[in-house]
Order: sequence, then C-alpha cells, then structure tokens
Amino acid sequence: MITPDTIEKIMDAARIEEVVGEFVSLKRRGVNMIGLCPFHNEKTPSFSVSAPKGIYKCFGCGKGGNAVNFLMEHEHYTYPEALRYLAQKYNIEIEEEKPSPEQQQAMDLKESLFNVSAFAQKFFEEQLHDSEEGRSIALTYLKERGFTTEVIRRFGLGYCPGAWDSFTQTALKNGYKKEYLLKTSLSKSKDQMLYDTFRDRIIFPIHNLSGRVLGFGGRILTNEKNRPKYINSAESDIYQKSKVLYGIYFAKSQMVSLDNCYLVEGYTDVIALHQAGITNVIATSGTALTTDQIKLIRRYTSNVTLLFDGDPAGIKAAFRGLDLILEEGLNVRVVLFPDGEDPDSFAREKRPAEVRSFVEEQAADFISFKTTLLLEETRDDPIRKAQLIKEIAQTIALIPEPIARTIYVQKCSTMMGVEEQLMVSEVNRIRREKFKRKHQPETAKDEDMIPVPGDRRTSPQKQEYEETNHRPEQEIIRLLLNHGAKEITFEVENEDKRMVEVAVTVAEFILQDIHSDDLMLDNVICQNILNEYAGWWEQKKLPAHSIFTQHQDEDVRKLAIDLLSSQYTLSKNWEQRHKIYLKDEEDELKPRVLYAVYAFKLQKLEKMLAEIQQKIRDMSRQIPADEEMLLELMKTQRDLLEKRRAFARELDRVVTR
Ligand code: GTP
Ligand code: MN
Repeated sequence: MITPDTIEKIMDAARIEEVVGEFVSLKRRGVNMIGLCPFHNEKTPSFSVSAPKGIYKCFGCGKGGNAVNFLMEHEHYTYPEALRYLAQKYNIEIEEEKPSPEQQQAMDLKESLFNVSAFAQKFFEEQLHDSEEGRSIALTYLKERGFTTEVIRRFGLGYCPGAWDSFTQTALKNGYKKEYLLKTSLSKSKDQMLYDTFRDRIIFPIHNLSGRVLGFGGRILTNEKNRPKYINSAESDIYQKSKVLYGIYFAKSQMVSLDNCYLVEGYTDVIALHQAGITNVIATSGTALTTDQIKLIRRYTSNVTLLFDGDPAGIKAAFRGLDLILEEGLNVRVVLFPDGEDPDSFAREKRPAEVRSFVEEQAADFISFKTTLLLEETRDDPIRKAQLIKEIAQTIALIPEPIARTIYVQKCSTMMGVEEQLMVSEVNRIRREKFKRKHQPETAKDEDMIPVPGDRRTSPQKQEYEETNHRPEQEIIRLLLNHGAKEITFEVENEDKRMVEVAVTVAEFILQDIHSDDLMLDNVICQNILNEYAGWWEQKKLPAHSIFTQHQDEDVRKLAIDLLSSQYTLSKNWEQRHKIYLKDEEDELKPRVLYAVYAFKLQKLEKMLAEIQQKIRDMSRQIPADEEMLLELMKTQRDLLEKRRAFARELDRVVTR
C-alpha cells in the first residue's frame, strides 16, 4: 500500500504536460497546450492542457482531470498502477505501508480464493479435453453446438465430472483448504461431507479484468426441466456478481478500439459472437444490469449496443436496464434478433460476415426503437398516446447530456406527431422534479434544461476559454476604457440619399454593435465591465476610470488597471496574421475599434462553427439514422461559414484599408 506521503510527492512532481505529452502531441497556445483529443475522434484540436493548473480538459468530449486521471483513462491503469507509473517517471521512491494484520489477512484470503479458483479452472479444462467422460459427453456437446476448439480453449471452458466429489477430492489432495473450497462455493457440504457444486456440468470460467478466474457458471448437458439450466458461483470475497461482466477480459481492448460494445444475455452468446469475429462483446449472464457494470463498461467505451431476442421476453430484457444505461450517460443502440433466435443460434446458422453485417445494419438507437414499438400498441388511442409521450419523456429525461436530449426530443416528437414544444416541456418538467427531489430546496438550473426552440437566451454550452482567446474581448474593453468618450466618424446615407458624415463615440459604437447581435463576452470579467459600463451609458453618463480602477471586485480592478496603464495591444500573432502595425493610437482609433469588434465576432463565429462541427461528427458516428437532423446541422454550418467569410472580408477591409 502506497503511503499518503508518497502519493503527495508523486502528485507534486507530476507535470501534466509531460505525462500527457507522452501520448498526445501538444502545441503551446498561450498559457495552455493544445492537441488532438485521444479520447474521441477529431481533426481540429479541442484537447487542452493547463500546466499551471495541472489539468487537462477536452472541450469536444468533456473528458478532463489530473495526471493520474489521464493515465487511468488513457492507459486503463488502476489508481495504484497510475501512481507507480508516475513514481517511476519522476524517480520517486515508493514507500509502502505495511498492511495491518487485518488488511494482510483479507489479502491472504483473496489470494487463496483466486488460487483455488485457478486450480479448479485448470482441473475442469483438463477434464473436458483429456478425460474419457469429458470428451465423450461434454466436448461432444460443445462441438455439436458448433464451438471450435480454438474458442473453447480461449474461454477456458471445462467440464466437471458427474461423480459426487471428484473435484473436491483432487483439490483437497493438492493441499487446497476446505475453507476456501466452501468460500468459493466450488464445493458444498452436506452431512459433514463435501461434494462438487458443478458436477455433471459444462464449466464457463468468469474472468476479472486482468484475466484471473473469480467464479464459474455451469450448464447442464441435457434438456431436463427439473434442474436449473445454469448455476453460478455464489458471491464471495473475490466474486461480486453486480461488478463483473462475462467476457470483459477478452473484449476490453476491442471495446476501446471500436469504441462500442455488444451486450448480450448469456455465456454462449458471447462465445458464439467471438467465433463470428465479433469480440467486443460482454454478457450480464442472466442478471439485471447494474450501475457498477455500466461504470465498468464506461472505462472502455460509452457506446453500448444491446443484442436481444425479438420475442416479448427479449424485448422486456432490453427495456430493463436501458434507463440505467442512459442515466449513466452512455449511448444505447439495440439489435433485435428474429423471433426465437438469440445471438448464439443466429451465429450458428449464418456465416460470420453475415452476422457482422446484420448487427451493424440492424442497430437502431434505443429511444426510436422504443417509440416505434410502443407506438404500434397505442393504435391512435389518444389516451394511450398521451401515456406514451409521458413514458418516452421519462426515458429522455434521464439522458444527462443536453445536446443528445434535444436530438431525441426532436426525433420522438416527429415520430409521434406531437409538437416538439410539448415534449420539451414534459422532459423539462420531469428533470425539474427529479432535480428537486435530489437537491431540495434548490431548483433546477436553466442550463440543465433543453432550450426551448427559438429561445435565444440559452447560449451554447459554457466553455472555459483560455487567455489567448480573450484577446479581442480584452481589446474591446481596453478601447472602451481608454477611449470611450472619443468620437469616430462614419459615412452614412441620409434620407435624401446623400452621404453624410456621422460621429459616434467609441462607447456608443461598441455597446450598440455588441448589443445588437446579442453577443456575450466569454470572459466574465470583461463582460462585467461591459455591463457596468453599459449601465452608465444608458443613463447618458460616462464612467470615470476610478469606477473600475478602484472597483470592489478584485478581478475587475486588476484588469482595468492593466488595460488602462499598459499599452496593451493585440498579441504578436494577431498583428502578424492580420498585418496590423500599430501607429499612434489616437490616429487609428476607428480601424482599431472596428478591428476589435470584428475580430471578436469572428471568434464567436468560429466557436459556434466548431460546436456545430463537433455535433455533426458526434451525430454521424452515434446516430446514423437521423439524417434530417444532420442535414439541419449542416445547413447551420453552411450559414455560419457564409457569415464567417463575410466577416473575414470586413476584417480584411479594415486592415488593408
Ligand atoms: P444456452 O441455452 O446454452 O444457449 O444458453 P443461453 O445463454 O442461451 O441461455 P438463456 O438464454 O436461457 O439464458 C441467458 C443467461 O441467463 C444464461 O447464460 C445464464 O447466465 C442465465 N441463466 C439461464 N438459465 C438460468 C438458470 O436456470 N439459473 C441461473 N442462475 N441462470 C440462468
Ligand atoms: Mn442460447
């Protein structure tokens, strides 16, 4: 166990930019570094690393954290593994605390349970392949079901002989203690006698993330109805059903590289799909999906495709757990197999390529799937339809991500032929109630709600912008503070269609121009100054410098002092890019003001464009079915591009005038 002291040393030594820099190529931008996000696909960098803050953050996918979080997320390290990696990188000697006697005992117990499980797995596997009984009964059965030796070996399948206690006796003879045999439920006791829990069954070992066996499932070989088809290991110190997914050890690397996983019901489904070449597949093994299992999935991917039988039981199974998955913020799709088929039987009849294209083509986003299915049942009965709207809204309300929520609302209201507005308010109502229940007596925040269509108040997601991005904003405030009262002149056409010269103050121009486009500055300090300035201006007054330089808000004070004292100019980068060479400020006031305002607007546009493009990327990856929405987004993108071109032209005119 690593001591808290050592952990502190490691955290102090770790340089976020160096740790991330090993995996991501970073470029400096202002105080931060940026690069392409390693957690989602992108072509323009939105992954930002702040060395002084010691954190990374992706503005595309939202992932963020410190150096340890990065290693856990990117390398799939456990917490201690990440710490050890950093300790080695920074030559920090790890001090380990001796575990207390109780801790030691717990570790010893677990180790013993793992050991006896490993022994059992080997024994069962040998019985399957090498014993007369195993070969003739069990191996034949598996071969008849179409499983190849290769896949049987990969999953370490086995056979427990039919005799009363052949495994138990062998284990005891090899020195494994009765206590551990019972604790793993490999053996059971009756009248002081031990017998094999899994006797006369095919054995499916269950592996943990690092491939160690922690439990077993056992299937009978016959169709008899008076014995359970499957039995499973009981919970133990190493096996907690709710935290384990069958097949995850074999699936995890493909889950990462394909950024998706298939969730099935049974052991045999996992194995059959593997054999068909689909290896990012895991099973709940008959139990209802738990939050812990979803969190486990999320370590590798946030996309889940449910594969279920098309019969009512399968559909019910698919509905179950769905809300849970959505609530954890994962994307769910669903594939229903033809009635009476499960993934295993389907894979047996079809060629691997057919299976693969079937699951790829059939995958539908879950909410539309649910809507279609339930809509059929309502048969235009208005009361049932109203119920259905509520039900779908309940599900949509669970989705934590606002953009995804909006998309589903649009989609479902179209599918059901109801007003989008109706769906929006229903979803918002449910979220508000849920929020109230969670955080009494607070109320739900506005940003947590889906923006009502046409409501311009709700700006796109708030983002934390870096210092460099505020430059045009700061320039605007600088001009306002330094030159607000000075006049600049414009030529305008008067009523008689004659060109006349009109003078406006810098303050008037800036405030009106920004106001007319309803734009907010991203930097809150700048926005605060602007608001306060506007307040004075509305009363036809110009605020004295001291209003800001002696402001009670320290941030406002500091910035105002900065902007008023130094010859604050645009960064070198901006100057060069736009070929601005600053002369005496007073003579150049108009182009400077125009330049600052246009540059600011251009930047705003670029951000909106980036957001739209991100949405388009996300959407074309996650919900390919919604072409309408995609088209809409692309139209918005076109409009923005057009606007950007226009602005860039204006900017150019100012600069090259
Ligand atoms: P095969 O019949 O061998 O194809 O298995 P299957 O995986 O298709 O079985 P089924 O679809 O009936 O059940 C799905 C999963 O539920 C199984 O893999 C088991 O994990 C679990 N399960 C099924 N029957 C039982 C049972 O009787 N008891 C317990 N505990 N679990 C069961
Ligand atoms: Mn089956």
